[in-house]
Amino acid sequence: MNSFWNTLSKPFFVLAPMADVTDPAYRRLIAETHPADVMWTEFVSADGLYHTREKKGMKDDENPLMRDLLYTEGERPLVAQLFSSNPENMAYAAKLCAELGFDGIDINMGCPDKSIEKQGCGSAMIKTPEVAVAIIAAARTSGLPVSVKTRIGYNKEEIDTWIPVLLKQNLPALTVHMRTRKEMSKVPAHWDLMPRIVALRNELSPDTLIIGNGDVIDLSDARAKIEESGCDGAMLGRAIFGNPWVFAGRTHAELSKEERLKALDTLARYFEEIQPHKSFHLLKKHVKAFVQGFDGAAELRGAIMNTGSVQEMRTVLQSA
Ligand SMILES: Cc1cc2nc3c(=O)[nH]c(=O)nc-3n(C[C@H](O)[C@H](O)[C@H](O)COP(=O)(O)O)c2cc1C
Repeated sequence: MNSFWNTLSKPFFVLAPMADVTDPAYRRLIAETHPADVMWTEFVSADGLYHTREKKGMKDDENPLMRDLLYTEGERPLVAQLFSSNPENMAYAAKLCAELGFDGIDINMGCPDKSIEKQGCGSAMIKTPEVAVAIIAAARTSGLPVSVKTRIGYNKEEIDTWIPVLLKQNLPALTVHMRTRKEMSKVPAHWDLMPRIVALRNELSPDTLIIGNGDVIDLSDARAKIEESGCDGAMLGRAIFGNPWVFAGRTHAELSKEERLKALDTLARYFEEIQPHKSFHLLKKHVKAFVQGFDGAAELRGAIMNTGSVQEMRTVLQSA
């Protein structure tokens, strides 16, 4: 299939989906600072999209799930990450994402959250390969390229059994978080196992791009991990906390106080503009990552955490 995936030059660097972090406001900030080669939305429930729109008849501009799918053109190529274990709902949501203009669909097969697993989604897919295959097929009916993000196994490393299931689907791209479900994020990512995944790809699906994920701290670390392990690209998640310049190759330590505070102020502005319905608490979660690394940071953090609205927070930031 001809898609943006075929146009990327290697190595490439992509933004991880992170619920309540890489929301439309943060994605816009990154896109305007220095975009990743591919951006991901936070994961969105395909079942939820179906129920809120078709069953409840909720208007799109009042629907929190639809608001999670807002984006700006600078974020392209942009992939919508969906989860469901129900093929009809997945087909419905994927078609909707095609209509909304997304460049691709990614299916979450790695989330360890119990509430997601209870729905047969996220990491639970590793235990039900036949459902995973049906869900991929359902998403493909949208006509968009369908990629998958997963882990190396459930309770133990299952590279030789689980990864081939996915590779046999001829995905344009497969992202592997190099930990098992059981390991959550508690142990270092097993990048040493990546060459086995690459070898399986070479054998079973040579055109599938392999994206490694887990503990990449900045772009030079990403380049080193890609070079050592043989994968095609790297996905960066927590490295973007407090550093929207990460895809420009800048490290957190290089950022000046002014840059940090201005970036947080811009994020606050986008938060208010794009997602005024969301709790202010979600914006406050970014404060620690941005307001650090300079004299007086702790006092300023304290002052910001005492504010009660986005406006108050911006006033404190602008007078700092
Ligand atoms: C706050 C948070 C939210 C996350 N939400 C998602 C998500 O919606 N979908 C997903 O596939 N992974 C999600 N993840 C996992 C990340 O995409 C990534 O796999 C993980 O953080 C490891 O990469 P890192 O070490 O670069 O952060 C989330 C991680 C964090 C920390």
